[in-house]
Amino acid sequence: MKRVELLLKDAHYIEYINNNNEEESANKYCQHGLQHHIDVARIAYILVLEHNDLNYFVKEGGLSGKLAAKECIYAAGLLHDIGKWNEYRTGADHAAFGARLARDILPRVFYNPNEIELICRAVYEHRNISRDMSFLGERVHRADNLSRVCSQCEDRANCPKRSNKEFSVTAFEY
Ligand SMILES: [Fe+2]
Repeated sequence: MKRVELLLKDAHYIEYINNNNEEESANKYCQHGLQHHIDVARIAYILVLEHNDLNYFVKEGGLSGKLAAKECIYAAGLLHDIGKWNEYRTGADHAAFGARLARDILPRVFYNPNEIELICRAVYEHRNISRDMSFLGERVHRADNLSRVCSQCEDRANCPKRSNKEFSVTAFEY
């Protein structure tokens, strides 16, 4: 996955992940660092494989093949929360802002315009489940929920995601 390796080395990508770490340095729970992004990328890919949906995604997304599909799923997972630091600083929605940041990074790491649309839409959509969500957006949303065992979190009573209703499922429901 050459393009995913390039994405992980992109200077702006590293900067945004570091910004998240900085903003969350005092948080004990629910960090949005590199590990969370890798978890979500892997789980989103597992969800697609478990349901035998990779060929469907290749076709539906107009992609060149399974490797391109895997690289798009990974990119969406790795980018989905890169705007989080800005939400802490300004209050602006991190999904919409993150999609804009992703749109700037992806051409540098050789994603084509069609792939960029799929990935940026998924980043934009990942926060809330909705009926007209894209295939990739829904997988990233589910993977995000599955990436944390919220039922075991000591701080769940204070979780902003619970009050925002960002969770559509509990972990292990799929
Ligand atoms: Fe998010």
